Amino acid sequence: MQIILREATASDARGIARVHVESWKTTYRGLIADEYIDSIFYADREQLWAKLINFYEETKQGFLFVASVDDEIVGFVSGGRSRDDSWEFEGEVTGLYILKQYQRMGFGRRLMNAAVSRLLEAGVSSMSIWVLEGNDNAIKFYERLGGRRIGTTQRKVGNKFYTVIGYGWDDLQAFSR
Ligand SMILES: CC(C)(COP(=O)(O)OP(=O)(O)OC[C@H]1O[C@@H](n2cnc3c(N)ncnc32)[C@H](O)[C@@H]1OP(=O)(O)O)[C@@H](O)C(=O)NCCC(=O)NCCS
Repeated sequence: MQIILREATASDARGIARVHVESWKTTYRGLIADEYIDSIFYADREQLWAKLINFYEETKQGFLFVASVDDEIVGFVSGGRSRDDSWEFEGEVTGLYILKQYQRMGFGRRLMNAAVSRLLEAGVSSMSIWVLEGNDNAIKFYERLGGRRIGTTQRKVGNKFYTVIGYGWDDLQAFSR
């Protein structure tokens, strides 16, 4: 099994979209309305990721790392500067998804390490992540990695609002790897 962790390139859009769509279905069914889950299509997501990869490459605003096993993308992490400055965290991880069959094998931690290293390189020393209320596996994972609960807010997905819970790391130098 050859495991590689690297920065995403344009040809990864398809693999990332697959992980994104599959993980959404296995993680959010029952938490997010079925109509929305059933309306997510690979082709749309592939286009979206292709645009985002291009944006990251051109602007260097943000990062996107993929983890692959024998050339198949099995997980990714995205992020950059915080999208919302009402919370006192400079950096943010905006997406972290691992295919179900590769969860609990250390990929999440490795991708988070890559994200933290990149943020530290950019002079960013604190970070937040927002997780859907009820996504208890992700909550346990963030708590295991030393995140502290910072509050909740509402996010719109499709045409409905959902509660998301913020986790924060005040000092990324001390991030437990
Ligand atoms: C949440 C997620 C990113 C975690 O990644 P992962 O690869 O499964 O987790 P890892 O194997 O790297 O686990 C790292 C540590 O967290 C712990 N952990 C992970 N999931 C856990 C859980 N559900 N309960 C308790 N501990 C957990 C592991 O035991 C491990 O601890 P250790 O290093 O001390 O042994 C991944 O499971 C995933 O993609 N889930 C579906 C999508 C999702 O919810 N994404 C987050 C959106 S906000």
